[in-house]
Amino acid sequence: MKTDTILITGATGTVGSELVRALANRGATVRAGVHSVIKGDRLKHLNPEVQLVELAFERPETLVPAFTGVDRVFLITPFSPEQVAVARQLIDAAKAAGVKQVVKLSALGAEAEPGIQLGRWHREAEQYLAQSGLSYAIVRPSSFMQNFITYHADGIRQQGAIYLPLGQGRLSYIDAQDIAAAAAAILLDDPIRHHGRAYPLTGSEALSTDEVARIIGQAAGRDVRYVDLPEDAARQGMQGAPQWLVDAMMELNAIGKAGYAATVAPDLERLTGRPARTFAEFAQDHRTAFAAA
Ligand SMILES: NC(=O)c1ccc[n+]([C@@H]2O[C@H](COP(=O)([O-])OP(=O)(O)OC[C@H]3O[C@@H](n4cnc5c(N)ncnc54)[C@H](OP(=O)(O)O)[C@@H]3O)[C@@H](O)[C@H]2O)c1
Repeated sequence: MKTDTILITGATGTVGSELVRALANRGATVRAGVHSVIKGDRLKHLNPEVQLVELAFERPETLVPAFTGVDRVFLITPFSPEQVAVARQLIDAAKAAGVKQVVKLSALGAEAEPGIQLGRWHREAEQYLAQSGLSYAIVRPSSFMQNFITYHADGIRQQGAIYLPLGQGRLSYIDAQDIAAAAAAILLDDPIRHHGRAYPLTGSEALSTDEVARIIGQAAGRDVRYVDLPEDAARQGMQGAPQWLVDAMMELNAIGKAGYAATVAPDLERLTGRPARTFAEFAQDHRTAFAAA
């Protein structure tokens, strides 16, 4: 029996690569939309059956071949001020190709008014999708556990420290593996059951950064401390980054510090049929990334 072809945009990223793995493991027909085929090649190692297709947002001529023959799309847009324009372009391409379902990766709290810049960008793209006439669903994850690898592994390895301006704020961190598992559950189900739904996806506990540091330290077998940065020092630490990025990160951290990112939602467990992975499990799996330099 022919299975749906599922296109993942941004397939080499944190969530995309986990979703390629999750869907391929479940026997789905996966088409990985990759910025460059060379970088995407390592997805083939996850599963040789995965189709690789070039999909570069700044090269519109890559859209039609990438979307042709696709039944469902998981839409990942990178964190950038262009993400709304990119999302519109991808949604238009999905519609033109006759895709039957689009599932969009958004962010926890994207619906909040007036919210923060990052949420407003996601909300605008969500609204465009809702008005497209396509069958759709939205997943809104909390902060990724993987951020501690992407942004903090060097500081942890070299100085045994996590520098963040989060005060004692608690965040309900989620493992990207869980986002992928929830997305796979939606993409392999009847689209009608999810049409118009927006799922907040979170871990099962909200942790302070002190607790995160302790858990990572235990997994890596070393002391890791949290250094609570004052706002000025946090801005200073991002010197050289574009202003939009500094402002967006400061806003994001401010809502975390104020306790607005501590929501624990039941949707992940309902979609996947199992509890969310704990931070301790994540840290244990990735302990070598945090080991002393
Ligand atoms: N991090 C968090 O805590 C968090 C929480 C909630 C929501 N989110 C949302 O998650 C999304 C990001 O997901 P992620 O972390 O999985 O992404 P990611 O790891 O940053 O990866 C981004 C992907 O997009 C691709 N890409 C970048 N520019 C491209 C272009 N011009 N054309 C085609 N592909 C391009 C990248 O490929 P190359 O590397 O080859 O360029 C990569 O595959 C954002 O929308 C963000 O707002 C993040």
